[in-house]
Amino acid sequence: MKRFYIHTIGCQMNVYDSSQLSAILTAMGHRSVNAPEQADLVFVNTCTIRAKAKQKATSFVGRLAAMKRTRPGMIIGVGGCLAQEEGRRILDAFACVDIVFGTHALGRLPGHIQAVAHQGDRIVDVEMTAAIDESVHALQEPDSTGVTGFVTIMRGCDNFCTYCVVPYVRGRETSRTPDHILDEIRARVAGGLREITLLGQNVNSYGKKEGLCSFAELLAGVNQIDGLRRIRFTTSHPKDLSPELATAFTSLDKLCSHVHLPAQSGSDAVLKRMNRHYTRQTYLEKLHWLREARPGMALSTDIIVGFPGETEQDFLQTMDLVEKVRYDSIFAFMYSDRPLAPAREFGGKVDEAEKQRRIYALLELQNRITAEKNRALEGRVKAVLVEGASKSSGRSGITADTVQWTGRTTCNRVANFTVPRGLANGNAVGPGAMVRVEIMSGLAHSLSGIAVGVEKPGAGGNAHAA
Ligand code: 5AD
Ligand code: SF4
Repeated sequence: MKRFYIHTIGCQMNVYDSSQLSAILTAMGHRSVNAPEQADLVFVNTCTIRAKAKQKATSFVGRLAAMKRTRPGMIIGVGGCLAQEEGRRILDAFACVDIVFGTHALGRLPGHIQAVAHQGDRIVDVEMTAAIDESVHALQEPDSTGVTGFVTIMRGCDNFCTYCVVPYVRGRETSRTPDHILDEIRARVAGGLREITLLGQNVNSYGKKEGLCSFAELLAGVNQIDGLRRIRFTTSHPKDLSPELATAFTSLDKLCSHVHLPAQSGSDAVLKRMNRHYTRQTYLEKLHWLREARPGMALSTDIIVGFPGETEQDFLQTMDLVEKVRYDSIFAFMYSDRPLAPAREFGGKVDEAEKQRRIYALLELQNRITAEKNRALEGRVKAVLVEGASKSSGRSGITADTVQWTGRTTCNRVANFTVPRGLANGNAVGPGAMVRVEIMSGLAHSLSGIAVGVEKPGAGGNAHAA
């Protein structure tokens, strides 16, 4: 038995891949530890979507090199998107690394670990396979992720946005079958899961290539799973968002009132050069469908500032889009050149200082909108699915009856709350409970309030109400 540690960089997809890696290592008889210093096997699950993610990965591997000098028996593996992109170059650059495994290699990892441990091999496996390895998914520990969790419904991407490296490092779009997905969710709900987020680079094109069911039909299947309370999904590509999906928000009671719909830019000229296949106008129409289907729907987005050739006029169009939509939150990024992605060759590069000015202006605008929206919720009562005790509960001076709990509203806002002594059924509060919380203050990035009602354990009902 060896002790292992996994360091994850990047997106939710990587978090999910790391949980699979953990399940594989556990099935091999190894045990997880909390720090690389205590581990015999250390894995870094890397990301390369933006330049910063690559820097994080290389600095972590640098730290491991120093550790390995004092503990030469340590086995170090580098996996994920950067591993896929760089392959053998990682072995050449870092003498401490034993295994480089790409985004399709998880299932072959046990054999590679054995070869390193017994023969001292150094291995590169960046082979891309057409079929998804379901044996890896089958290992997913049912109770490993608590109240909320992720499930990948598809991998890869066929869209080739000109700034993006994903199609090159995660390969072509491939969907898992509805049966495999539903079985995995059912098993995890039996282990205590209450909220599932369906993951894919472009969930709206789920199953199209393979002739499986549509994404809306898949959601309808998930909605029928007993014991599951909430369904979320990410990420949607605006070009593939269908009227059928918007309609799902009128009929599926477990579907949360939040959609993340990356706009990337508010300027048609920039969208065209990004190869996004929608215009500002058609994007706004789709948001309108969603808000019609589910009034009060929360919306979030990704924005890139400083894409090559982005003029001040283009940027102002993005600012105007954000102002018009009044998103509930945004993720803003400064464009960075990625090897493999075509935009690295585009002219009209925007300098770093200007990108910074733009991102600050954008974030300032959004912070104002978020704060206004959170403040408008003061005095309202919201249903919160409890995920656990909030961090502040551990602080000294907090007594049992002021324990702070934390969870999310259907709109994906973090809500922290206390349960007043004497609240009927108050002792039923705990992870997985659905609690009605009166919002006392809407802060910059979260809500805080007081519980006014707790649903009896096992009660069904409408998870997105209030
Ligand atoms: N530069 C900056 N941001 C990028 N993203 C993807 N590629 C790049 C890049 N080269 C952003 C997009 C995407 C999010 C996950 O990362 O906004 O939606
Ligand atoms: Fe990248 Fe575009 Fe695919 Fe998203 S849709 S993963 S941004 S290529």
